[in-house]
Amino acid sequence: MTQPTVSMQVKQLAKAVGLPLFEQIGKRLYLTIAGKELFSTCKELFDRLSEFDSTIANLKGLKQGTLRLSVITTAKYIIPRLLGLFSQRYPGVDISLKVTNHESISERLLNNQDDLYVMSQLPQDFDVNVYPFLENPLVVLAPRSHPLVKEKNIPLKRLANELFIMREPGSGTRQAVQKLFEDHDIKVRVKLDLGSNEAIKQAIAGGLGISVLSRHTLVSESMNSEIVVLDVEHFPIRRHWYVVYPTGKQLSIVANTFFDYLQHEGKAIAEQTFLNNL
Ligand code: PGA
Repeated sequence: MTQPTVSMQVKQLAKAVGLPLFEQIGKRLYLTIAGKELFSTCKELFDRLSEFDSTIANLKGLKQGTLRLSVITTAKYIIPRLLGLFSQRYPGVDISLKVTNHESISERLLNNQDDLYVMSQLPQDFDVNVYPFLENPLVVLAPRSHPLVKEKNIPLKRLANELFIMREPGSGTRQAVQKLFEDHDIKVRVKLDLGSNEAIKQAIAGGLGISVLSRHTLVSESMNSEIVVLDVEHFPIRRHWYVVYPTGKQLSIVANTFFDYLQHEGKAIAEQTFLNNL
């Protein structure tokens, strides 16, 4: 829809409700109480309709409906591959895949926005069902020409002399790296904050510094890639990907089928992909 059409529709909606749905403060629009009520009512209706669709599809013996997934940035190197086979098997299933960082996934989980979540750090104070899926080791990456490349078991404190490229605040990778440095009382000089694993790889190759990223980000690098893993003590930082959903959530038939597929086949397919690529 065009923007004027949307404005017109929203006006008509407010008229039908009989109360304003938005208020403008400065340049920002906020939902009024009536707006919030309408929003949550509509959300419940759409959720119920989507459950109804899957129930009917199931009664007809078909796997249909939408699978809503949120995965952390490092999982984007494998989940789309797993979705490929799943989608061939169940062509009636549409997929909505959100790739984002730890902070934003945690928010989506709290707000019950998706069916399943793939994350590395489990939420505290929020009950979830958890399936540990795969390892997600974090490694130190440097350009191939870096003087430390040939060294073995490099002491952690040597990294303090290096320029560092760090993931953005809100990233789980960043939190894990900062914790390791804090635990060993090491301060690194952060030259650059970047919100993308791929951009960080380019920055390393461009000589801007070294960084710590998931080993999975190397999955499509060739043998003579411009970036290499340094052998630093205390690395790799051991992490896991978990498949998670809120305790008590009624998984749709499609989400249940995908969860089963991850448990029974996904792990083997993912491990094979890494073996072939690393
Ligand atoms: P991130 O997620 O994208 O938030 O860094 C990766 C992780 O938590 O392992």
